Amino acid sequence: MGGAHDTLKSVDLDLPHHTSGKVREAWRLDNGRRLLVTTDRLSAFDRIIGFVPHKGQVLNQLAAWWFERTSDIVANHVLSLPDPNALIAIEASTLPIEVVVRSRLTGSTSTSILPRYLAGERELYGHHLPDGLTAHGALPEPIITPTTKADAGEHDVPITMEAVVEDGLLEAGLWTEVQKVALELFARGSTLASEAGFVLADTKYEFGLGADGELLLIDEVHTPDSSRYWSAEGLDDRLDAGLAPEGFDKEPVRLALRAAGYSGDGEPPALDPAIWQQTSARYVELYERLTGKTFQAGAHPIEERIHHNLAELLS
Ligand SMILES: Nc1ncnc2c1ncn2[C@@H]1O[C@H](COP(=O)(O)OP(=O)(O)O)[C@@H](O)[C@H]1O
Ligand SMILES: [Mg+2]
Repeated sequence: MGGAHDTLKSVDLDLPHHTSGKVREAWRLDNGRRLLVTTDRLSAFDRIIGFVPHKGQVLNQLAAWWFERTSDIVANHVLSLPDPNALIAIEASTLPIEVVVRSRLTGSTSTSILPRYLAGERELYGHHLPDGLTAHGALPEPIITPTTKADAGEHDVPITMEAVVEDGLLEAGLWTEVQKVALELFARGSTLASEAGFVLADTKYEFGLGADGELLLIDEVHTPDSSRYWSAEGLDDRLDAGLAPEGFDKEPVRLALRAAGYSGDGEPPALDPAIWQQTSARYVELYERLTGKTFQAGAHPIEERIHHNLAELLS
C-alpha cells in the first residue's frame, strides 16, 4: 500500500545484533554505535494497540530537536540522523532506573501519583505531599519519582529516592548528579513547552554511561511518548470545571479504547480510522508548535526510503 497514510509497522534490516522494543527497533553497530529506528507503533496498556501515521518521524525528529536544546545541561547519545525515522547513537551502558519527573498531580496507572494521593497516601516515592492538592493541579515543586527499568512484558516498579542508592542501583554521587540533571532538563522542557502553549506535566528520562564513564542522556527526550503535554490554553478553566486536561498524545486512542470497554486485557478492539488520524494530527501539531518548523513527511514507502538512506551501513 502506498499513499500518504502508510505507516512504518516494523523494519527489517540485514544487520546483526538486533533487538525490538515496543516502539523502536535497535541494532548494535561497530565502534560503540547503536542504530535506532522509530516505528509508527503506538503502545498503550503496555502493548501495541495500532499504528499512527508520522508518529515515528515526529518522535525521532522531536527528540533530536530537544537533544540539541539540552546539550548544555548534559551530553547525549546522538551521533547523526541518517533518515527521518533513524538515529545513530552512542551505545551506552544503561542505568537501571527510569527517571520520571512530575510537576502535576496526575495520571491513572499504578505508578501514577494521583490515584495514590486520592486514596490518602501522602508519602510517595520518598516525597511528602501536603494535603489540599487538587487533581491535575501543580505540585509545590517538580519531583522525581524513580522506577526500576522493567524487562520486556513486565511493569516498571516504583522505588523511593533513598532506595535508588540503598538497593545498590546507583552509587550516591551518580544519583546526586542524575537528580540535578533531570530537574534542570525538566525546567528547560517546561520553559520551552510553555512558550509553545503547553504544560509539561511529566516526563521520563533514561540515562547511560559512555565509554569513558561520562553521563549521557539516551533513548528519547520530551517526546509525546515519554511525556505528558497539556494544552495550556483554557487549562485552569477545565480543571476548575472538574474536567481533565487536554493531552497532546495518545489520549484520543486511550479514550476510544476505554469507551469500547477495553482496559488492557485480551485483544484490543478495532477503532474508527478517524481516531488514528486525529492522533496523528496531534503528534504533528505538537512537533510544529514546539520546534516552530513545518513538518515535512519523509518520502514513501518509508521502509524503502530507510533502506536507501542506510545503504552505507547495510553494504
Ligand atoms: N544510547 C543507548 N544505548 C543503549 N540503549 C539504549 C540507548 N538509547 C536507547 N536505548 C534502549 O533502547 C530501547 C529503545 O526501544 P523502545 O522501543 O523505546 O523500548 P521500550 O519498549 O523498552 O521502551 C530501550 O530499551 C532503551 O533503553
Ligand atoms: Mg521506550
